[in-house]
Amino acid sequence: MRGLALAAMLLAVAAPAHPQPAPAWSTEEIAAIGRHGPWPPAPARDPSNRVSGNPAAIALGEHLFNDARLSAGGDMSCATCHRPERNWSDGRVRAVGIGELDRRTQSLWNVGFGHWFGWDGAGDSLWAQSIRPLLDPREMAVDAARVAATVRADAALACGYQRAFGQSPGGDDEKVLVDAAKAMAAFIATLVSPRTPFDSFRDALLAGDAEGAARYPAAAGRGLKIFLGAGCATCHFGPRFTNGEFGDVGVPFFTGPGEVDAGRFDGLARLADSRFNLLGPHNDDASGASARRTRHVRRQHSNFGEFRVPALRQAGEGPFMHNGRFAGLADVVEHYSEVSPDRLHSDALPLVRPLHLSTGQRDDLVAFLRSLSADPPPRPSPAPLCP
Ligand code: HEC
Ligand code: HEC
Repeated sequence: MRGLALAAMLLAVAAPAHPQPAPAWSTEEIAAIGRHGPWPPAPARDPSNRVSGNPAAIALGEHLFNDARLSAGGDMSCATCHRPERNWSDGRVRAVGIGELDRRTQSLWNVGFGHWFGWDGAGDSLWAQSIRPLLDPREMAVDAARVAATVRADAALACGYQRAFGQSPGGDDEKVLVDAAKAMAAFIATLVSPRTPFDSFRDALLAGDAEGAARYPAAAGRGLKIFLGAGCATCHFGPRFTNGEFGDVGVPFFTGPGEVDAGRFDGLARLADSRFNLLGPHNDDASGASARRTRHVRRQHSNFGEFRVPALRQAGEGPFMHNGRFAGLADVVEHYSEVSPDRLHSDALPLVRPLHLSTGQRDDLVAFLRSLSADPPPRPSPAPLCP
């Protein structure tokens, strides 16, 4: 009842201003919209990382993130690819490190709330995922000895390490490498995207504030209705607009003639082989609870060609998808509108089907997707390591 009354109010407020009225919302839709918030969520804490949320570790992590001495040529840091002003990505179709990669640089916004990392989920913790680019010969191409030597030789980094971990960066090189990655993970987990027009709308709608809700652009509202009706939220679920799992939406995954990116199928093999996974010796969570997913996940044929469902907040200007296949949001929407059912080799119920949207509906869906972004506040400069 309340939903209906609110819907009537919304129409009354929105109708005169727009030739195409903002949609009215059913009780079910209001509940579904509510599940995409509130924003921001409570800070994420990672029990597998003993310095998660620790301010000294966050400061050390930010310095390491920007430190080009952690690459073989001394000219590339994490921030070379994950650029703050580019939504922590780089605007390239595929990432370029020492060599060219097969995939696009993922954004780091809100990544601390996830549970699988990388397009293929080969990482089961934010810190393990932060080790991969350091060691990958196509990315920064260093080893544990190089990372440990860099931290030990630099007085500020060594002091920052002492403050974060309560001991000097002595001992085993691999331990220092993992600790450096844990500090970077603590930093990355602080990257939470700003509140957006969608959030103001959601909160107003739930509070029964018709006037506040009516400030949401009518086109975005119509696009949101399409998003809910088309089942996008089955995968792009919850406050981050991702269920954190994997799917195949029919994006071709050839990387070259006769070569494919098997996505999740290979990612699970790499996860099992990694000595940095949560079943390995570097997990700080003595309870073992944090390793539950890793212990139980099983590789299945249907994982072939699956990629992680991207979060849709602060998605940026593109390119989009794991391989940068689509230049802009309009191209993504066109894909979902016209995707050929033959391209989808899902064993289960087809979650994706061609929507055949009109031009106006596509524009509305893009307007909705854009309403999930806002200008982030300027970043303060990194905190000093040893003030
Ligand atoms: C050469 C460009 C490049 C550099 C340098 C780089 N990354 Fe990445 N980053 C990527 C790409 C590409 C992916 C997607 C990986 C995949 O699935 O294949 C990624 C993914 C990630 C993810 C996972 C995000 C998610 O949503 O799961 C994290 C975390 C990350 N990088 C952290 C780092 C850190 C920390 C460093 C520095 C130690 C770093 N990256 C250096 C390109 C780069
Ligand atoms: C079956 C689960 C599923 C459904 C349903 C789904 N998506 Fe996706 N979406 C994905 C996956 C998986 C990707 C990444 C695919 C890739 O990289 O190859 C993706 C990518 C995207 C992207 C690009 C994000 C980026 O950062 O690259 C957008 C935008 C998007 N989807 C919007 C939508 C919309 C709008 C709908 C409804 C019409 C929808 N999705 C339905 C799983 C889904």
